[in-house]
Amino acid sequence: MRRDLRTRLKGRIPEDLLRLVPRAFDIVGSREKAVAILELPDELRGYEKLIAEALMEAHKNVRSVLAKASERYGVYRVRDLRLIAGEEDTEVIHKEAGCLFKLDPRRVYFSPREATERGRIAEMVRPGESVLVMFSGVGPLPLVIAKRRPGVHVVAVEINPDAHNYCVENIALNRLEDQIRAILGDVREVCPRLGERFDRVLMPLPKGAASYLDVAIPCLRDGGVLHFYHWAHERDLFSEAEDLIRAAAEKLDRRAEILNRVRVLPYGPRIWKVRVDARIERG
Ligand SMILES: C[S@@+](CC[C@H](N)C(=O)[O-])C[C@H]1O[C@@H](n2cnc3c(N)ncnc32)[C@H](O)[C@@H]1O
Repeated sequence: MRRDLRTRLKGRIPEDLLRLVPRAFDIVGSREKAVAILELPDELRGYEKLIAEALMEAHKNVRSVLAKASERYGVYRVRDLRLIAGEEDTEVIHKEAGCLFKLDPRRVYFSPREATERGRIAEMVRPGESVLVMFSGVGPLPLVIAKRRPGVHVVAVEINPDAHNYCVENIALNRLEDQIRAILGDVREVCPRLGERFDRVLMPLPKGAASYLDVAIPCLRDGGVLHFYHWAHERDLFSEAEDLIRAAAEKLDRRAEILNRVRVLPYGPRIWKVRVDARIERG
């Protein structure tokens, strides 16, 4: 039987520190090999090995335990992850929605918590559509969309060479070469040169997507749909994102009709990652 980490550690670490042991953590990988990623407060530093071992006892597929050692940073949106127990090799194959994603969480952005959001997006895509996924990482959105919607054509653009290489590998691993084209580069340079108009453009970069709206909007066909991600305080989740979209559309002589407002995931204290969908039409 799987017991919670605190129960397993009872009597092994001081009672007053037990309540600091995280109840939740991410597991990325498969039943054969996975890594666990957890957030440990400084007070538990002296007990991290014990905690990691208890976690590996409970989850036999977890071969490495990584502690978050920084916030996400830089253009690639990665974070420092400190190996506290287990194997040095942290490359895994994660399974989600019938797809396989090969990745090393120490080299690329990936969040298993976004599975529901990926499913929601794939659900909206209609047969025969063409979709541009900017900031595509190791390809989870393109893969889930293409797998769920045979015949849909997806272009994925990513600037981190490690993430792009995994995306190329993942396309082959999932046998989706006919549906997905992965391009390495900065969306600002790559997208204007695609010479193609898409039914949908996805912008999954909450930190900074706004500064690429001028690139994303011209990639949409008339009446195409933009999926824009943003961070917002819970006191007003959607106004800023909507204003940014409307202003960018107006500048390009387009009109934005807001279709959906979605609270995606909590990001920090009272801060949410949100999504606003908008139909973009000639003004
Ligand atoms: C928040 S992550 C999302 C990755 C992926 N969509 C996912 O859901 O796992 C944003 C990604 O955008 C990439 N990125 C940031 N700026 C970029 C740019 N100007 N052009 C292309 N990719 C960029 C980063 O390297 C990172 O992989």
